[in-house]
Order: sequence, then structure tokens, then C-alpha cells
Amino acid sequence: MLAGGLVTSNNAGLSVPDWPTTQGSLWKIPPMIGGVKYEHGHRMIAEFLGLLTIVVAIWTWFVDKRRWMRVLTCGAVLGVIFQGVLGGLTVLKLLPPAISTAHAVVGQTMFCVLAAIAVFTGKSWLQEPIERIVPQESRPLIRHLWTLLGFLYLQLILGAAFRHVWTKLGPVGAERWPAKKIIHMFLYPHILNALIVAGLIIYVGMWVLTRYRKMPQLRRPAHLLTILLVLQLMLGFAAYITRVVYGVNELQPTFGLVATTVSHIGIGALILAFTIILLIQVYRHSAGADRVTTA
Ligand code: HEM
Ligand code: HEM
Repeated sequence: MLAGGLVTSNNAGLSVPDWPTTQGSLWKIPPMIGGVKYEHGHRMIAEFLGLLTIVVAIWTWFVDKRRWMRVLTCGAVLGVIFQGVLGGLTVLKLLPPAISTAHAVVGQTMFCVLAAIAVFTGKSWLQEPIERIVPQESRPLIRHLWTLLGFLYLQLILGAAFRHVWTKLGPVGAERWPAKKIIHMFLYPHILNALIVAGLIIYVGMWVLTRYRKMPQLRRPAHLLTILLVLQLMLGFAAYITRVVYGVNELQPTFGLVATTVSHIGIGALILAFTIILLIQVYRHSAGADRVTTA
């Protein structure tokens, strides 16, 4: 995620113009200079990640009795391949904002799928929950978490669309779209939606932290979500300043711009992942959930 973010923030998306080859070769590592170190570095990390995902799927196939886990890990392999193809397409089509945005969104989704696999294979998942949430309480909480997830995806799509339209068609790209239009279309809705996301995280966080303090599997993600939210709002503001206020007049991406925007993406991915983990754990701890989770 961070390596991908570095490619976009450093405007390095076309430093390697070919795919699936790199400068004409499938295995030679090019001189890692300029934008190539970000672009090719990102490809190498992506390939290693793909390999690790295949290992997880094969391993699961042989040792995990749960059929749905086998399906999930094979799905993860397909997802990572799809993400790689999207990455290649964005290069071959010269970084169209729609494909780059899709690559950003699928990337975060894959991160969440792998995080979920980690939860499902963790020790605590295989033990019986000591305490349960009654359905009257778990149902509304699950509903709120799904709502939060929906608004988080909207937040991600708006943020990624802003970032890619701004850098490719906007003032620091082809200058085909006026800055004002891009800000009105994507950034203001992103900031407005951040208020909804923040409200929902605080609501859900307080709900869990006041009622289920004794359930560490619920308390921990809820706690982390509230801390990450504060960080993310500060980083969002910093990204706004470095990108929109100062970034327009800079010839090259500054260190400040790269650091704030890439961290904002990283924390955004963690918020999405912990929301999904919390949702999964609430399902797991709902009364009558055994058959679904450990069968
Ligand atoms: C596991 C596989 C991969 C993951 C999880 C992944 C993830 C990401 C992420 C999160 C970004 C940042 C998006 C943003 O800044 O909005 C990105 C950017 C990028 N990725 Fe990947 N990526 C993967 C594979 C690939 C592959 C195989 C390529 C092949 C060329 C590639 C090429 C790119 C390019 C060119 C960008 C910059 C796009 C732009 O500036 O418009 N990615 N990637
Ligand atoms: C919980 C709240 C927030 C979340 C989850 C969030 C998430 C994100 C994500 C995931 C991206 C990048 C998408 C991608 O390309 O992969 C992004 C971009 C961005 N966000 Fe946020 N954001 C939040 C709040 C804010 C706030 C409050 C502001 C401004 C005051 C802000 C300003 C920005 C800007 C300027 C970008 C584009 C960065 C660039 O151009 O490189 N965000 N946001």
C-alpha cells in the first residue's frame, strides 16, 4: 500500500513505461534511480506479495479443514492477480484516473481480505468466545458497522479520484481540468464525508468501549479505530495543505507532500481494515454464531 502510494505521490507512475516486462526484461532489475526506484520497487513488492498469497492458499488447502477458508484464500490469489493486472493496465493506458482509482480501491480491499485471513487463522478465533452479545444488541451494532463500511468506501473512492484527477488532469498534470472543479467535485465531498465517517467511528467506538470492555477482540479494534481517526483527520488536513495550498506552485513533489499523502493512505487502509475486523468479531461474538464461524 505504502509503496503504491509512493509511486503516485512521486508522480512516478510512468517511470517504467512497459508491462509485464520492465524496460524490456522479465527478470533483470533496472538501475533503481529516479522514479524507477518507486515504480519498479512497487512491482517487486507486489510480486513478492502475490507469491506469499499463493503460499497461504496452498498451505490453507492442505491444513485447514474449513472449506470456506480454502475458498477465501483462493479468492485472495485471484484478487491479487486482478490487482496486478489493473496496475499493468494503468501503465499501458498511461495512467487514466479511473483505472488508477480502481487500482487504489481494489488494493485496499485486498489488504482487508488478507487482514481478515490473519484473523480467521489466529489462535483466538479457534477458541470459543467466553462472552456473547445478545442478538438485540449485536444486530443494530452490525447495521452501524455496515453503514460505516459503506461511507468508508465512499471516502476512499472520493480521495483516490481527487488524487488521480488532480495529478493527471489537474494543475500539476495536463491542466485540462481547473483546480476549482476538481476540488468541488471530489475534495469537498471527501471532507464532508469525513465528518460522517468520524461521527460513525466515534459512535461505534463508544458503543463497544462502554459495553464490551471485557471482550479484547472487540475492545482492541474499537480502541485503535478511535486513535487512528484522530491521526487521519490531522493527516487529511496536512495532505490538504501540502497538496492544494502549497503543492500547486511546486515543480516537484516535496518531501512534505509525499510524507503526508502516503501516511494518509496508510492510515486510511488501517481504518478500513480495523472496521472490517471489528465487524467480523461482532458477528463471531453474537449469540448463536458458532456454526457459521468454526464449521
Ligand atoms: C499486489 C499487488 C498490488 C497492490 C496491492 C498495489 C497497490 C497499489 C496502491 C495502493 C497504489 C496507490 C494508489 C494511489 O496512490 O491512489 C498503487 C499505485 C500504482 N501501482 Fe500498484 N499495486 C499492486 C500491483 C501493481 C503492479 C503489478 C503494477 C504494475 C505495473 C502496479 C502499478 C502501479 C502504478 C503505476 C501505480 C501509480 C498509479 C498512478 O500514479 O496513477 N501495481 N498500487
Ligand atoms: C476518516 C477520515 C478520512 C479518511 C478515512 C480518508 C481517507 C483517504 C484516502 C484513503 C485517500 C487516498 C485514496 C487513495 O488514493 O488511495 C485520501 C485522500 C485525500 N484526503 Fe482523506 N480521508 C479522511 C479525511 C480527510 C480530511 C478531513 C481531509 C482534509 C481536511 C482529507 C484530505 C485528503 C486529501 C487532500 C487527499 C488527496 C491526497 C493527495 O492528493 O495525494 N481527508 N483520503
